[in-house]
Amino acid sequence: GKGEYRHFMLKEIFEQPAVIGDTLHAFLNPLGRKVTLPELSFDLGNLPRVTITACGTAFYAGMVAKYWLEQVARQPVELDIASELRYREPPLPEGGLSLFISQSGETADTLGALQYARDHGQRTLSVVNAAESSIARDSDGVLQTLAGPEIGVASTKAFTTQLTVLACLAIGIGRARGTIDPAREAALTEALIEVPSRASEVLNHDGKMREIANWVAEARDVLYLGRGNMYPLALEGALKLKEISYIHAEGYAAGEMKHGPIALIDENVPVVVCAPSGPLFDKIASNVQETNARGGRVILFSDKAGLERLGDEAAYTVELPEVDPFVAPILYAIPVQLLAYHTAVIKGTDVDQPRNLAKSVTVE
Ligand code: M6R
Repeated sequence: GKGEYRHFMLKEIFEQPAVIGDTLHAFLNPLGRKVTLPELSFDLGNLPRVTITACGTAFYAGMVAKYWLEQVARQPVELDIASELRYREPPLPEGGLSLFISQSGETADTLGALQYARDHGQRTLSVVNAAESSIARDSDGVLQTLAGPEIGVASTKAFTTQLTVLACLAIGIGRARGTIDPAREAALTEALIEVPSRASEVLNHDGKMREIANWVAEARDVLYLGRGNMYPLALEGALKLKEISYIHAEGYAAGEMKHGPIALIDENVPVVVCAPSGPLFDKIASNVQETNARGGRVILFSDKAGLERLGDEAAYTVELPEVDPFVAPILYAIPVQLLAYHTAVIKGTDVDQPRNLAKSVTVE
């Protein structure tokens, strides 16, 4: 049941520190500061390409994984939504790996893409929450997220546990390819091990998110911006908001603003910016300044250093813990989930069962 929570979605958001911890437990050796992936029937060190495919929120997890795999493992990656990949019929390199991500393990298009990959000689690996599922059954290897049952139609803990598994996989592939040394692996695993307690700190902002949601609930359109591995978080934030609050939202790579979407900016369009400190901070800071100069009002998610630099430019700020930029996508998922949740509650929509949507999309 929902216990003390008003909705399953809120319960599942608050379960994240625990289920991320459970998932890390399965894929990390905390003492050795090493990733421990299960034995697979193929060599992770020698993949000409990894092709990542999924739908919806799982696709955005895959998009973060692309950034991680390229950066940490120097692994060439192709990424596409399942409904496009399967009918585009792309050539797939011999000996390539196709990676599928799915909470339910039953999504029709993802399953169709898996079939396509198998028919084209790919090794197949799936990240699923439901171990007894069609996608798990048909894959050469399975990495299970230990999110437990997710009831709310809006994916929350499935997403962050997918990210957790994919972060471990990126490190594992990096080690196999020889692109990550033991010191870097230790630093990244250390950062991952701290995620559950950092996630609990982020959940303390629940009240603040409710306050910000009062403003967002008035909006007709909302923009989400991010760069680098935060770009997929912008897309995920927009998806979450539209699916449960029915407010139109768009996620953009912040660098694309001046190629069109900046024309939308006025004081009635909240602009949610996910901007942890890191190598791309200066770039996104200038995007925030441009937004401000056009009367736009920014909701800024950043850390202490980031807010010191840019907090004055924002109508609302939320301070997240300072972490290695590698793990930031996992933590920044939480405020975007809470913002969508509280906005939907204020609007009075059916949060756990939004209109027109099914938890598991088993038909095309
Ligand atoms: O079960 P799956 O992970 O394959 O589902 C994929 C999407 O249908 C799912 O993530 C959907 O986008 C969610 N409702 C988003 O919150």
